[in-house]
Amino acid sequence: MCLAIEPWVGLFLTELFEFFEIVGASLTGALSPGVAMTTTEKAPAYGTRAWFKKAYRSTPDDPWGLSWRLSQLVRYDLIVKILKRHVPGKESSLGVLDIGCATGDFASTLSSALGMPGGRLIAVDFSEEAIFRARKKYLDVDFRVMSIDAVGAPFRDSMDVITCMEVLYYLDDIQRKEALENMKNALKEGGLLLVSSRISRSPYFQKDELREFVAAEFDIVEAGEIHVGFMGGVEKFVMRVNKLFYKLGLGNPTRLLRRIIPTTNIRLGKAIEKVSRLCGPITASHAYVLARKRSNLHRAEIRLRRLS
Ligand SMILES: C[S@@+](CC[C@H](N)C(=O)[O-])C[C@H]1O[C@@H](n2cnc3c(N)ncnc32)[C@H](O)[C@@H]1O
Repeated sequence: MCLAIEPWVGLFLTELFEFFEIVGASLTGALSPGVAMTTTEKAPAYGTRAWFKKAYRSTPDDPWGLSWRLSQLVRYDLIVKILKRHVPGKESSLGVLDIGCATGDFASTLSSALGMPGGRLIAVDFSEEAIFRARKKYLDVDFRVMSIDAVGAPFRDSMDVITCMEVLYYLDDIQRKEALENMKNALKEGGLLLVSSRISRSPYFQKDELREFVAAEFDIVEAGEIHVGFMGGVEKFVMRVNKLFYKLGLGNPTRLLRRIIPTTNIRLGKAIEKVSRLCGPITASHAYVLARKRSNLHRAEIRLRRLS
């Protein structure tokens, strides 16, 4: 039935997400994508270190509710399942790198899911504040302050798996290409890259756009969508109100919210995601791409084909 009314359901849900975001944003005066900024200070440019510094300082945990929002937990759960399907055995000896790890929530989840001994999974972020908080929170991951454009040299040909989720849309076109090149350099031949992005207008990616971007340098293994936009929209509204409370010195009601939002019930979140998925591609909120680094031989063949 849902499939029959798909365009209407999709349109309604999209409008609803936008509504929650707009109402929430106007409550706090936030106009930048993703996180709230105060209007009295000159806002740093979107996606810069200074922008993230300010974003982290606006909250005691992280600006996106990565450890407690049901939509984030469902997103992590689905990505971990995809990786586990493709990652080879002998997990304890794998080289795994998470880029743009924020406060480490996904890195730690992945480390446990792959059964990697403490500290073997490396996670980097260019925000010192994020890494400081991540180190305090999780002891099972090796956290380092590093920018995505610097991972190629120190990790050259050493990683079996690289994950880079919700980072590329903070970079401009040139930086994105450099980032892809760096991730390719850090991977072993045949190593796997998992990237994801929220699906939306620029600076975000459209789902095919992310796939095409990666396909220029890698062999695509799998690509798809995650449908957590409805949950995400409602949560974002709640987070804006939360930030308003924090700004007004009324404490941090996140703790209360964590109790209200049934965070531990991932099953409920997954059920909501499935229902949303049934309503068709229009409810897709995130695109992911899993791709494999080409062998040197394969790369040489492609270069030859391009030349001829
Ligand atoms: C939206 S969070 C994503 C967190 C996590 N990967 C996830 O999917 O839940 C984006 C993170 O990317 C980091 N980041 C942005 N640009 C970066 C860059 N050029 N190099 C390294 N980290 C970066 C930010 O500091 C921030 O912590």
